[in-house]
Amino acid sequence: MHLTLRQLKVFEAVARHLSHTKAAEELHLTQPAVSMQIRQLEENVGLPLFEQVGRRIHLTDAGREMYDYSCRITALLHEAEEVIDALRGVRGGRLAISVATTANHFATRLLAEFSKRYAGVSVSLDVTNRETLLRQLAANERDLVIMGEPPAELDLVAEAFMENPLVVIAPPDHPLARRRRIPLADLVQEHFAIREQGSGTRAAAERLFRSQGLALPTGMEMTSNEAIKQAVEAGLGLGIASVHTLELELETGRLVQLDVEGFPIERHWYIVHRQGKRLSPAASAFRAFVLEEAGAFVKLPPARGRRRATARRR
Ligand code: PGA
Repeated sequence: MHLTLRQLKVFEAVARHLSHTKAAEELHLTQPAVSMQIRQLEENVGLPLFEQVGRRIHLTDAGREMYDYSCRITALLHEAEEVIDALRGVRGGRLAISVATTANHFATRLLAEFSKRYAGVSVSLDVTNRETLLRQLAANERDLVIMGEPPAELDLVAEAFMENPLVVIAPPDHPLARRRRIPLADLVQEHFAIREQGSGTRAAAERLFRSQGLALPTGMEMTSNEAIKQAVEAGLGLGIASVHTLELELETGRLVQLDVEGFPIERHWYIVHRQGKRLSPAASAFRAFVLEEAGAFVKLPPARGRRRATARRR
């Protein structure tokens, strides 16, 4: 059976009103146009759908069956329209976000506020390291990604929205804790708890040491900032971490920030997507929320030696 949605729509109106004239009025069509659609539909179906008794039209058996189906199809079309409208108005839809391990410390706070405002949007959050984020971006797997310093070689749209200073941490009783302007070279002798290969924090630290002709001191490698902080607190060595992860520890004095030349490494957080990607309404709303309001929801703990907002972005 070959029929068009337009024919079904006209048929549904005629069957409901049992009148070509009223259906034509409702659909803003001429009466001959309505009659033609019905005639074509009957030809396609191969059976008459209406019969004329006196001056009135009635549905045939085939017409009643067709009316039942056309009502269901019309309802489904209406439902599809509603779903699309909801997406357009950010009342529904899905949002797939990935954030760098380190960004998790504030991303959940942002998502909590966003979800309050857009209760209909269902969010999936993946927390992973920089290397995986880059693979996800290359494969266009996520709507948006929050990460530090996106690479130039991928065709990305990356917008900076917040500072991300990296600092050297130590337990308060560490011999270096009282020294000022510690040369970077002095750290090479120290034992470190350091993030894994593929971490943005680690890559930035390696770059700083390399720029001074030094190798990043290694020690214990860990995939979690929490583990690094605990290792440092336990006296296993020094650590390098974003101040975003250190709010409590710096405030309570459980950890201190060392005054090392070249630190803090001034980085920024970026919200990123592939160039040319069509952001869904939910993704656009989240992007706008992050760019405009992230600062109001995320308190950056004070980091010694931080320059003001004019800091170079890296
Ligand atoms: P990381 O990323 O959690 O992978 O270290 C953070 C960053 O890129 O600064």
